[in-house]
Amino acid sequence: MRSRVRNTLSIVATISLLAVVVRWYRGLDAGNLSDSSPISTVTKSLYVAERVCAECHSDQANDYRASGHANTFQLTAESDVARWLAGQTFNDPERPYAYEYHFDEASGLSVSIPKQFGDDHFQLPYLLGSGQNAITFLSLNPDRLGDTIGIEHRVSLYSNKDDPNQHSWDLDLTPGHRAHRPTQEVEHFGKLLRGDKLTSCVGCHTTQGKIVRQQIENLSPHVGCQNCHGPAGEHVTAMKNDTEDAYTGLTQQSAREEVEMCGRCHRLAHSESSADVSPNDIRIVRFQSVGLLQSRCFSESEGRLRCTTCHDPHQAVSRDAAHYVERCLSCHGEPNPTRCPVSPKTNCIQCHMPAIDIHRGIKFHDHWIRVRADRSDATQAGDE
Ligand code: HEC
Ligand code: HEC
Ligand code: HEC
Ligand code: HEC
Ligand code: HEC
Ligand code: HEC
Ligand code: HEC
Repeated sequence: MRSRVRNTLSIVATISLLAVVVRWYRGLDAGNLSDSSPISTVTKSLYVAERVCAECHSDQANDYRASGHANTFQLTAESDVARWLAGQTFNDPERPYAYEYHFDEASGLSVSIPKQFGDDHFQLPYLLGSGQNAITFLSLNPDRLGDTIGIEHRVSLYSNKDDPNQHSWDLDLTPGHRAHRPTQEVEHFGKLLRGDKLTSCVGCHTTQGKIVRQQIENLSPHVGCQNCHGPAGEHVTAMKNDTEDAYTGLTQQSAREEVEMCGRCHRLAHSESSADVSPNDIRIVRFQSVGLLQSRCFSESEGRLRCTTCHDPHQAVSRDAAHYVERCLSCHGEPNPTRCPVSPKTNCIQCHMPAIDIHRGIKFHDHWIRVRADRSDATQAGDE
């Protein structure tokens, strides 16, 4: 059926993960959050293989390996998670059939819907997400006109928080796929993505790669060193030859430039007017850069607050509350004038940046740092 599904493709409106999030919270105006993808203006030939960086920057490279950035895009053929999925079945809660998963060393993961399409397999070659929260599969297919469309698979894997070793996963519908009705055969497997929605889906999860027909050419997966720092070919040549070099450590960026750099992927609002961005818009919880830019901590600290005040971009996110309290107190502890009248020394995050469940137990911390009506005393704060 590979061919049957492909041949029956036609043009349909597309939906990206951002749009999916937007649709989750129907009734919100989607107009003021952007989902622009990172666009590199430098020629590809200046990129070098990412492993080269580790030869001279072992400090950054060693810690980075354990981060979400370093594990967010894979070929299913190389994935242990895809191997784990082989042989499993998922009953669609809204449709009268089940999905069955298969693994092949050469082509990776595929799925069949025996009740609908018999023995035919649909390929799922790419895997997005490190899995600390979730993993979603992507495939590239031709439409009737020969253009490439993406299919975001209908079923995602959710990290099983009860299994500390992460050897098992929960299968469930991908966010935004509930109540989706297929209008053509291929949509039984997932939702259509085309144009910018498809390019940015791949773009935010990789460092380099161009979609050409049903392949990604020059693929450098994950949010690699050169995604943030830019192509390093000239830097490496200069360092090896001991010549002058103007490569960027990004330490010179202003706070706003840095937040915008991270915001290429962690999202930016089209407008920062507080009339357009509401604290009640739950999407902001997921879009850290949008929230942070609204915070008085950012706007009234004269460029002293940025993402890397609290996060080392070369490491997995710290889960140590004390690490963050220390950051807060660098501006709100003695002898600074603005201190907390409720809890001057502890638990800042619970009350001012609480974790909020946005889907199936997946929590994000609201980066719009503020006094919240729902966190006004210690009894309420204990529920994190
Ligand atoms: C042959 C060794 C070598 C390799 C390979 C190498 N670097 Fe460097 N890099 C250096 C040295 C030495 C410095 C310090 C140079 C300086 O401060 O002028 C440096 C500095 C940097 C800086 C900081 C620049 C600044 O302004 O502070 C960044 C960022 C960086 N390298 C990233 C990378 C990345 C990304 C790669 C891989 C694509 C890479 N490097 C590969 C040797 C290397
Ligand atoms: C090219 C897109 C991109 C850019 C630029 C980017 N990120 Fe991310 N970031 C991602 C993606 C994708 C994930 C999800 C990774 C996963 O699958 O777990 C992520 C996850 C994270 C996480 C949580 C993951 C973990 O390791 O625990 C933090 C914290 C984070 N990013 C901070 C930053 C900061 C700070 C910057 C800027 C210095 C930045 N990001 C720039 C795409 C990006
Ligand atoms: C504008 C950039 C952007 C686009 C476009 C984008 N993502 Fe992401 N994605 C992120 C960032 C940033 C994160 C980390 C924060 C979060 O989970 O929202 C992330 C997280 C994820 C995760 C969860 C990883 C984990 O375990 O925490 C999955 C799965 C994922 N993306 C899949 C997709 C798929 C599939 C598409 C395309 C249909 C897509 N993304 C499009 C930036 C993007
Ligand atoms: C998510 C974006 C991001 C990624 C990915 C990233 N960096 Fe950085 N890097 C930064 C930022 C921002 C700074 C400056 C702020 C800081 O120092 O923390 C920086 C600083 C540096 C510096 C200057 C020394 C320092 O710590 O300030 C070096 C060297 C460096 N990075 C190398 C690397 C290497 C090697 C990799 C890949 C293993 C990498 N970076 C991946 C964002 C990133
Ligand atoms: C770089 C300095 C800096 C850091 C770090 C910082 N803040 Fe702030 N914060 C400020 C400034 C400046 C203001 C504006 C009020 C003032 O002038 O003190 C502010 C305001 C606030 C307010 C009042 C906001 C409102 O809407 O009324 C709260 C609450 C707050 N910060 C909590 C925190 C917490 C919690 C942390 C740590 C997660 C933190 N801040 C980290 C500088 C900072
Ligand atoms: C004042 C400190 C602070 C600043 C500044 C900050 N963060 Fe965070 N961030 C946190 C805390 C606290 C957590 C929750 C850590 C945990 O899980 O214990 C977090 C978690 C995250 C996560 C993981 C998902 C989540 O929301 O729990 C991402 C992604 C992230 N931050 C991105 C960013 C980006 C991008 C920026 C800059 C726009 C930024 N952060 C600036 C404190 C900060
Ligand atoms: C139990 C919940 C709770 C905890 C924990 C907490 N806060 Fe607060 N915080 C509040 C409330 C409520 C207010 C508003 C108080 C008021 O206006 O009377 C506030 C106000 C503030 C203000 C504004 C003060 C002003 O004068 O405008 C800052 C800054 C602040 N908190 C920072 C922090 C920091 C830093 C921490 C951690 C050391 C922290 N808070 C821990 C609930 C909390």
